[in-house]
Amino acid sequence: MTAQQPEIRGLTAADDLEPLLDLGRRSFGAFGGAARQRRLADARESIAAGRHLGAFDGGRLLGAAKFFEMVQWWHGRSLPMAGVANVVVAPEERGRGVGKAMMTALVAEMAAQGYPLSVLYPATATVYRRVGYELAGAQYQVSVPARSLRSLLPPDVPVDEAPPGLRRVGPEDAPEIDAVVARVHELGRACGPVIFDTGVSRRQLDDEDLFCYLAPDGFLAYSWSGGHSEIRVYNAVAGSAATARALWSVVASHDSMAGTVRAFVGPADPVSWLTREPDVSLARHYPWMLRVVDAEAAIAGRGFPASAQAAVTLRLGDELCAANAGLWRLAVSGGKGALLRHAAVPASPPPATPLTMGARGFAALYAGTPVAALRLAGLAAGGDPAGDAALDGAFAATAFMLDYF
Ligand SMILES: CC(C)(COP(=O)(O)OP(=O)(O)OC[C@H]1O[C@@H](n2cnc3c(N)ncnc32)[C@H](O)[C@@H]1OP(=O)(O)O)[C@@H](O)C(=O)NCCC(=O)NCCS
Repeated sequence: MTAQQPEIRGLTAADDLEPLLDLGRRSFGAFGGAARQRRLADARESIAAGRHLGAFDGGRLLGAAKFFEMVQWWHGRSLPMAGVANVVVAPEERGRGVGKAMMTALVAEMAAQGYPLSVLYPATATVYRRVGYELAGAQYQVSVPARSLRSLLPPDVPVDEAPPGLRRVGPEDAPEIDAVVARVHELGRACGPVIFDTGVSRRQLDDEDLFCYLAPDGFLAYSWSGGHSEIRVYNAVAGSAATARALWSVVASHDSMAGTVRAFVGPADPVSWLTREPDVSLARHYPWMLRVVDAEAAIAGRGFPASAQAAVTLRLGDELCAANAGLWRLAVSGGKGALLRHAAVPASPPPATPLTMGARGFAALYAGTPVAALRLAGLAAGGDPAGDAALDGAFAATAFMLDYF
């Protein structure tokens, strides 16, 4: 890069997409055939929606970054979420501030488009911490011998549910699948899972090697992996005991060929309680980071436990999203939260040393990190033990995602 700052602007339909594909290939490795077509379709969609930025030196593309339009569940309520992907800088331009400049512009674009939250999987964290993202949750992959799923434990208490009808589904069923999955996350008071917009969902399902089944309250998606030695489960979400059993039984039916099942599940997925032996083990854990882009909207849209009560004064620092900065009263009751400017709270003098955090600490708190951990990590200071306990009760979560992007 030349000494001057790159120009950062939204990519347009007039931009040649070959340099973008070339950056992707140089950054993440080869892709061809169907993957190339999917990337092109995704890129055209994000460019048309103003969700894809490029960094240019003259006419030369130095880097790019985009976000998907997604929704994310927090204690059973869904909020719009900008899912960052394809952050790339040309190898010869790295380490000179292009990545940070693009991410700064991308967060500003999310704010302009009204997204309260943003999430990304960091290949490296510093560039994202610099713009207010912090570690918040994980995608958990478990491993289980296929034979352990063959004979699941019977229910310990009477379960009054008939086995659901399962049907094979494909890309044309994307809206119905998304509606079922959304309902399961809502009823399960899930924290962290996401859904892509329908265009992306449809393209992901358009894969003859991905096998999908839908129940009235559940969804299963899996493929072979490693030849036919392993089954990889991408989704096995169920809203009832009968459906959980039915979905895992389809997976188990492959035990004559597949030795191992690897599955992306939440940390409290019923599968761990369904096998006769403690055979479900954590195989990998991919951390993801959260950025609270619009603090007021993020708190107003998040679900909280119905019994949680909190009223805490909070001093938030946020250079990039300046509307988040200031002295707030964070109140939670009746399953809802609100962030009010402290000056607007009648007759309530602020404490001498209010709980203080920056954008990173607030993101980690939002995702359920205990305040004690934030203090020890240098992400929070001030406040008092009663406030900490109230916040821990309100935000408690082990946030997870099933999807990777
Ligand atoms: C990761 C990437 C986008 C960063 O872009 P960049 O232009 O090199 O980053 P910047 O120069 O703006 O660096 C910003 C900060 O991140 C740090 N950083 C950048 N790349 C890093 C790396 N690979 N490891 C550790 N720190 C890194 C820089 O040191 C800098 O820290 P500082 O603020 O303390 O000085 C770029 O290296 C890249 O394209 N990598 C390959 C593809 C990839 O991994 N993409 C990310 C997918 S999540």
